[in-house]
Amino acid sequence: MRRSKRSSMLVRERYRVHAAKYLGHGSQGTVCRALDEISGVPLAAKLFSAAQAKAGAHEAEVLRRVDGCELVTAYVDFCELVKPSEDGEVSGVVLPPASVLLMEFVTGGDLLARLLAGGAVAELSARSVFADLACAIAHCHSRGIAHRDVKLENVLLDMDGRVKLADFGLAAIVRTRLDEAERLLLDRCGSKAYVAPEVIASSAQPYVGSAVDVWAAGVCLFAMVAAFFPFDIACPQRDWRVPHVLAAQAHGDSSCLVLFALAQRPCPFSQPLLDLLDRMLLFDARARASLDEVLRSAWLQALTDPDAGAWRAPNDAASELASDAAAATAEAQASETCVSGPQEELGAPVEVIVLDDTAGDVFRSVSLSRLDADQPGATTFDDVVTDADVYRSLALAVGLVPSGVSKAVPALCRMPACNGWAALGRDHVL
Ligand SMILES: Nc1ncnc2c1ncn2[C@@H]1O[C@H](COP(=O)(O)OP(=O)(O)O)[C@@H](O)[C@H]1O
Ligand SMILES: [Mg+2]
Repeated sequence: MRRSKRSSMLVRERYRVHAAKYLGHGSQGTVCRALDEISGVPLAAKLFSAAQAKAGAHEAEVLRRVDGCELVTAYVDFCELVKPSEDGEVSGVVLPPASVLLMEFVTGGDLLARLLAGGAVAELSARSVFADLACAIAHCHSRGIAHRDVKLENVLLDMDGRVKLADFGLAAIVRTRLDEAERLLLDRCGSKAYVAPEVIASSAQPYVGSAVDVWAAGVCLFAMVAAFFPFDIACPQRDWRVPHVLAAQAHGDSSCLVLFALAQRPCPFSQPLLDLLDRMLLFDARARASLDEVLRSAWLQALTDPDAGAWRAPNDAASELASDAAAATAEAQASETCVSGPQEELGAPVEVIVLDDTAGDVFRSVSLSRLDADQPGATTFDDVVTDADVYRSLALAVGLVPSGVSKAVPALCRMPACNGWAALGRDHVL
């Protein structure tokens, strides 16, 4: 492989790609540091060789579709270097790259490294990370994307310990519209310890991508709290534990208890966690918990110690939202600044489907909640529409959104389609 003294290249006369500042490598590409020289923002760049170019274009397309959620690595740009005239200027693994995917740079490393360094995670901490992960996956599903490679290595963490789901190299577009049924998938892919049984079953049938993500998220959660993986591979012929677990599931017994018994260790899981994981790790994909059920599970809905971390359980957020809204109503009535608007109760979420103007058929489902514009962190409809051109069609969202919307809905809250999460504040709003 040819190497030159220089180890950086400029892409689109804007992005400085530092191939020598290596961040990671996998089957699909090599990731290194980059810099947006115009804005000064540090980035991550995934470099694809000519042989990987198709995969690169697919990953970029998927990342564009899921962009706009703080829990998913943000898409920045995708550049196909038709004439790699800067041949030799990059000293990374790919020389020269055929294409470069530019993404947000996530600084906190991945969840596997965190676990390897620190060992098992207490339920309370695991819950905050898992809530983020489940919401990130729900967001992807709401955009018609099944990730198919959810695993600890692909769950990156930012400086605050918040999740950034990464690596959409194996993701599949399973729907292009919300009202479409999920397209079944056939290709056998994933990572050994995380792949759902239906993907690798000998009588391979088409499978549901979203159910595969639930299984993999269950494996992540199990591994986080147990510090071992439930299976080497979820196949009865290839992992001796699988027949025992299948027998337990046939009798309605707990898979987790069986797994701990086989490991000759006491099970430290609380009953709500046990219940949740038993539902997520069901071999029968049709009986497995949906992501919606996961988000509504007792374990995730449980009250947390407010001092224990940044995460708030979905219900906490929702009830806080409702009480904030009630307070806002009272305040607004008192000062007679209450704006006219929809007939729905303040704080009551209204589901709407919003089309993304710039990305063709990309869609999303959002919940809007009426709040007071003066509320800290509230963002007006006008702000959103002006700040993010991509959501121009928001104001045109179906009839559920009231007329005269820019003044009638002073603030927005977003939830994934599953309604499992609500958040306030500029960073969270659409
Ligand atoms: N946006 C990012 N910010 C920081 N590190 C990243 C980023 N994307 C990927 N990485 C690092 O590079 C590794 C490989 O990237 P990934 O997209 O998972 O590629 P692969 O498909 O080859 O597994 C990741 O495990 C992570 O350590
Ligand atoms: Mg990866």
